[in-house]
Amino acid sequence: MRIGVLTGGGDCPGLNAAIRAIVRRGIDVHGHEIVGFRDGWRGPLEDEWDELTVESTAGILPRGGTILRTSRTNPFKREGGAQIVRDRLDALGLDGLIAIGGEDTLGAAFRLHDEAGLPVLGVPKTIDNDLNATDMTFGFDTAVHVATEAIDRLHTTAESHNRILVVEVMGRHAGWIALHSGLAGGADAILVPERPFDVEDVCGLIRRRHSRGRYFSIVVVAEGAVPAEGTMETLESDTDEFGHVRLGGIGQRLSLEIEERTGFETRVTVLGHVQRGGTPTPYDRVLATRMGVAASDAAQAGSWGTMPALRGGRIELVALRDAVAELRLVPTEEYEVAETFFG
Ligand code: F6P
Repeated sequence: MRIGVLTGGGDCPGLNAAIRAIVRRGIDVHGHEIVGFRDGWRGPLEDEWDELTVESTAGILPRGGTILRTSRTNPFKREGGAQIVRDRLDALGLDGLIAIGGEDTLGAAFRLHDEAGLPVLGVPKTIDNDLNATDMTFGFDTAVHVATEAIDRLHTTAESHNRILVVEVMGRHAGWIALHSGLAGGADAILVPERPFDVEDVCGLIRRRHSRGRYFSIVVVAEGAVPAEGTMETLESDTDEFGHVRLGGIGQRLSLEIEERTGFETRVTVLGHVQRGGTPTPYDRVLATRMGVAASDAAQAGSWGTMPALRGGRIELVALRDAVAELRLVPTEEYEVAETFFG
């Protein structure tokens, strides 16, 4: 068989481990030939690709990012995109395509399979950990490690200066990174997109800490967190060239508001893309490798329209339809565990 592979959407640690696993399992176990498309869906649309071999993918396991590079290009936002992908698969003699990505990339993969009948399967990745049908996505563990280390460091400087430190982490629709890094780092308040917040409640938690003799506080806020209606003004967000709202800014806004309302000196740290860069943790390397091996096996079996998923510690194939049906959000009971330690 001849199999194509691409990485789409935001990059994340573990992508290279998954690519390596697809190449090694495919070539050594199934006798596949592997074509690596460049820049996500732009690769098949614009005929950008390289043959991948065991030699060309050697040494990439611990490397962050993706050797295939990535983009947010969506074949359904281009005139005749699905037909171009079909023609490209035919022209390159490909029996199928493995798309490694998050909600957008897998959404396109699902539609290419479901609507256009193309032999496509997915592999879930995102630091946001918000994909349905899998217990976890690779990239998330590394992002939580980076954010937790930052919170630990901010703790000591916050304590030395009697300051409030607001830490803005990634998390567009789901607050998984904020919740886990905040819990691990002992945050005094954690704000997530799933729960609109009242800044006065946050200030109340900070005042309570002061009344108990703790003169510093750490507030972790997900970039997608929003104030409850009528409680605080926010800035207008703009969009990138692919129509995605460019987030960022809630941390800055929140820190000004906290300082004004409490009178306590406040600073903000926006972690941004540092959470997505660099070497993956051992956990992410192993999860990405297991996913890549399962995807190669699924291609060999002709299980198109599916995606390997982590379920109760095992890797199982699930329907792409289920993976993209809705986002996996932070459940109330998990947030309530964190709330125990607020203020
Ligand atoms: O989806 C992963 C993610 O890192 C989100 O957490 C974040 O909102 C977004 O990508 C940032 O996108 P970009 O890299 O295009 O700024």
